[in-house]
Amino acid sequence: VDPTIDLFAEIERLKKEKNAILLAHYYQEPDIQDVADYIGDSLGLAQQAAKTDADIIVFAGVHFMAETAKILNPHKKVLLPDLKAGCSLADSAPAPLFKKFKEQHPDHIVVSYINCSAEIKALSDIICTSGNAEKIIESIPEDQPIIFAPDKNLGAYLNKKTGRNMLLWNGACMVHEIFSLEKITRLKMRHPKAKLIAHPECEDPILREAEFVGSTTQLLKFAVKDDAQEYIVATETGILHQMQKDAPHKTFIPAPPNNACACNDCPHMKLNTLEKLYLCMEHELPEITMNEQLRVAALKPIERMLEISR
Ligand code: 13P
Ligand code: SF4
Repeated sequence: VDPTIDLFAEIERLKKEKNAILLAHYYQEPDIQDVADYIGDSLGLAQQAAKTDADIIVFAGVHFMAETAKILNPHKKVLLPDLKAGCSLADSAPAPLFKKFKEQHPDHIVVSYINCSAEIKALSDIICTSGNAEKIIESIPEDQPIIFAPDKNLGAYLNKKTGRNMLLWNGACMVHEIFSLEKITRLKMRHPKAKLIAHPECEDPILREAEFVGSTTQLLKFAVKDDAQEYIVATETGILHQMQKDAPHKTFIPAPPNNACACNDCPHMKLNTLEKLYLCMEHELPEITMNEQLRVAALKPIERMLEISR
């Protein structure tokens, strides 16, 4: 792409010309967030995708998010700037293995975190996100055995919060498992007034120390409203952009990873760039396509979630 092109202006032009809506997750790079029509957590993004009347949905996020938008909008074009933008958590639950696991527990119902493939959604009874998981689980009778997939950290956190004993699939997010409690503790000694806030995909020792745990939207809302001046943020770094924008006088410190080579950037989310976004809108490619039978099966548990999350 010609480096003299004003990508922001071009993206705005393409949005209007094509009646396209640009949905972005908080983990996208700041430039993408700034040009988006809506920035949100997985729940907010799914809700926006469910109600939009645009002709084209451009999804600046990862594959499972764009796939969810397509499941909800079979007749719309859904574009993802880089089809390789996957998710380590979604990859940790291959559908054939999960199907066998489910068959071994026929009396259980399946609650799946939205970070999973359409095939896993099709094997699930209801979907949840980190923003509504407690509510979804509490909507299920207490004596009903549950399989929770694919995130074991979120699952363990929910077991603690709801007093359930859900059977957990052994999956995790590569970004949220790199934080070092030791380093956070040292950092807190230098910033004694800083509050640790964490995403529930983090491991238990981090969550125990956190003063607030929530989805990206919930972390942002908390950080803006709360009366502290400093926060240590245990999630992907992209969210710091909105935190800093919405609370410019506060200090947000990314939680330190366990070694100097590791970083809190999601390599999948960060595959999308402003340039790829522009090209994808210009050429209407790459597009998310899916088998109709799979789509219909994956839609049911998403609709159940949206119904409960209204
Ligand atoms: P939320 O934005 O729904 O909290 O999800 C976080 C995440 O890891 C998305 O991949
Ligand atoms: Fe997946 Fe983790 Fe990246 Fe979110 S941050 S897209 S859960 S790998």
